[in-house]
Amino acid sequence: MGNPNKAMAEKGLMRWVDERFPATQMWQEHLSKYYAPKNFNFWYFFGSLALLVLVNQILTGIWLTMSYNPSAEGAFASVEYIMRDVEWGWLIRYMHSTGATAFFVVVYLHMFRGLLYGSYKAPRELVWIFGMAIYLALMAEAFMGYLLPWGQMSYWGAQVIISLFSAIPVIGPDLTQWVRGDFLISGITLNRFFALHVVALPIVILALVVLHIIALHEVGSNNPDGIDIKQKKDETGKPLDGIPFHPYYTVKDIVGVAVFLFVFAVVIFYFPEGGGYFLEKPNFEPANPMVTPDHIAPVWYFTPFYAILRAINFSLFGLDAKLLGVICMGGAIAVLFVLPWLDRSPVRSIRYKGWISKVMLVLFAISFVILGVLGVLPATDGRTLVAQICTAIYFAFFLLMPFYTRLEKTKPVPERVTG
Ligand code: HEM
Repeated sequence: MGNPNKAMAEKGLMRWVDERFPATQMWQEHLSKYYAPKNFNFWYFFGSLALLVLVNQILTGIWLTMSYNPSAEGAFASVEYIMRDVEWGWLIRYMHSTGATAFFVVVYLHMFRGLLYGSYKAPRELVWIFGMAIYLALMAEAFMGYLLPWGQMSYWGAQVIISLFSAIPVIGPDLTQWVRGDFLISGITLNRFFALHVVALPIVILALVVLHIIALHEVGSNNPDGIDIKQKKDETGKPLDGIPFHPYYTVKDIVGVAVFLFVFAVVIFYFPEGGGYFLEKPNFEPANPMVTPDHIAPVWYFTPFYAILRAINFSLFGLDAKLLGVICMGGAIAVLFVLPWLDRSPVRSIRYKGWISKVMLVLFAISFVILGVLGVLPATDGRTLVAQICTAIYFAFFLLMPFYTRLEKTKPVPERVTG
């Protein structure tokens, strides 16, 4: 039996806090009285997992920073020092480097869920847009983090990407120099990337995640049926198809966390380099501005966009191939921002959309994966052709969406969630 005096003291303490800070109100609004649809499935694990990976990256990042030396002379050696001499340094570093890969796996699956169930559609446009802003910030964060070990691929990968700015007419070359802070990538570039990677971008990402969740809780979660659960409420005002997030989904999410941590640990302990895809082989050599690696490829999570960039090997409308490639690569990401306005379907979930949407989504997903694979391979004529076809499918999925989502016949949406 609980101690009644202790319970009284806790209540008193909570009242004291609540009179000064809305702790109980926030707990109820976001957890114990936040009604989430009762039919969440596998695809709904990835939001909480993204939060977990975010915390992992911040904590391991803080500890790495304690022993890392952000200078061209000392960076590579300090990473070796972390791996060999710092107590548990190897584990902290592998948790961080594998965490970067895990972040993108989880976020890509999280985004795909949005595509499957139309979670970006009204009234969740802002949830999606904050999500896209997180995605952009995450790409910048990962890109800058990758320069820090100051290996060959860090150096040359950054060289290829930063030089893309030079394709911009008129201001391109000056802009490139401004971004690098030097005539070539140097310790100055490393210093600013370090500042952005460990201070500026984590703050931006954290703030965006808070906005993302506030926006979601304002309108409520979508679900695999794409039904608005607020339409059917009981006499006390609770959605009939909703259950309190806590304890139901907090407990359910622990299952996802357990499975995730198991897989994460297997990778960290047995495949930390991911066969050269998570930590690339040339990065075991210190950066050398005089020697270019045979084959430069970005880390796997950027390769679909890198493949789109390389697929454009022709000029069009007076734009040269490099600039057109940069525009297409940027456009491939920008188009995702306007997705809520491209989908004109009367239904949200793929379950009730017509066959064209289903075929297009499958083609899109396959093309994205093929582009990802092509992006790590050296270009050949055949591969470039495949990349061009996949790029066309990628854009067709989005740009034809206003037409096929309006034309196709949808299935009737049930009144209540189907489980
Ligand atoms: C650090 C990265 C991110 C974190 C921590 C995060 C966190 C979350 C959480 C906790 C939820 C509620 C649980 C769930 O529905 O799974 C959620 C929902 C959602 N997120 Fe994210 N998210 C991130 C990135 C993104 C990105 C990149 C996008 C898309 C561009 C996105 C789009 C959405 C959408 C549309 C929902 C509502 C889904 C629904 O109700 O069906 N999120 N997010």
